[in-house]
Amino acid sequence: AAREYIRAQGAPIVVKADGLAAGKGVILCRNEKEAYAAVDHIMIEDAFGDAGAEVVIEEFMTGEEVSFFALVDGEHALPLVAAQDHKTVGDGDEGPNTGGMGAYSPARVVDKAMAITIMETIIEPTIRGMAADGMPYKGILFAGLMITDAGPKLIEYNCRFGDPECQTLMMRLESDLLEILLAAVTGELDQVKVEWNRNAALTVVMAVNGYPGSYEKGSEIRGINDAEAGGAIVFHAGTKADGNKILANGGRVLNVTALAPSVEKAQTKAYDAVAKINWPEGFCRSDIGWRAINR
Ligand code: GLY
Repeated sequence: AAREYIRAQGAPIVVKADGLAAGKGVILCRNEKEAYAAVDHIMIEDAFGDAGAEVVIEEFMTGEEVSFFALVDGEHALPLVAAQDHKTVGDGDEGPNTGGMGAYSPARVVDKAMAITIMETIIEPTIRGMAADGMPYKGILFAGLMITDAGPKLIEYNCRFGDPECQTLMMRLESDLLEILLAAVTGELDQVKVEWNRNAALTVVMAVNGYPGSYEKGSEIRGINDAEAGGAIVFHAGTKADGNKILANGGRVLNVTALAPSVEKAQTKAYDAVAKINWPEGFCRSDIGWRAINR
């Protein structure tokens, strides 16, 4: 059925594992041959295990991908801000997909007018629809969007913050997060105003060699305090403490995050901090923020 659908739609086309695959279950296919191979990879070779028992086959959208966040109290949706992440493992957005190798906020492609369009055409109808279906949604709503020439299009929703987008949002948030979350729980989001730092935040993910394929755990990471001495914050993702030592304990391991007056300055500050981290077994992309800087 999947092959027939691909034949009927033509290419380019997108084939996805329908279950959770840590951000890696999406295959962008330039032609039908690649699309058939993607179906075999997911459904016959079981590349993503049970997550690939079914596939979703979607329109190939062209544009800039954006992560847009709103907080919802069942009735009201409060727009937060947008961020952009870099999903592939290699510089220039090359190579296989990952959970995200770096991010920045704000995302200039989402200006005030675009944010209003996203709220009016995507977020608010979703909230109304869920309430009308007897399933009012409360919590954080993360819309994965493609900003196309025909306007914003929804790729997917997540009921969580993005990783590493969240790290950039937390650097910019000036209001008390707890108060905002409580207002979502008590249905009072319409009375809340969120204050954001106008500076740009940028985070560089440091991952262990081999990621997003197989990798080893347990290598020692040094220099985190030196990295933070210049004002960056190093968020821990896949680490564990062993006495005084910090060891790598996952694929994406550290998020080196900086706040500065522009994406370009935040990029410089974040990479200066990355350079202080002594971890031969780790790597990062060297171009996080390139799209915003080119813009
Ligand atoms: N960075 C993408 C995600 O959290 O899904």
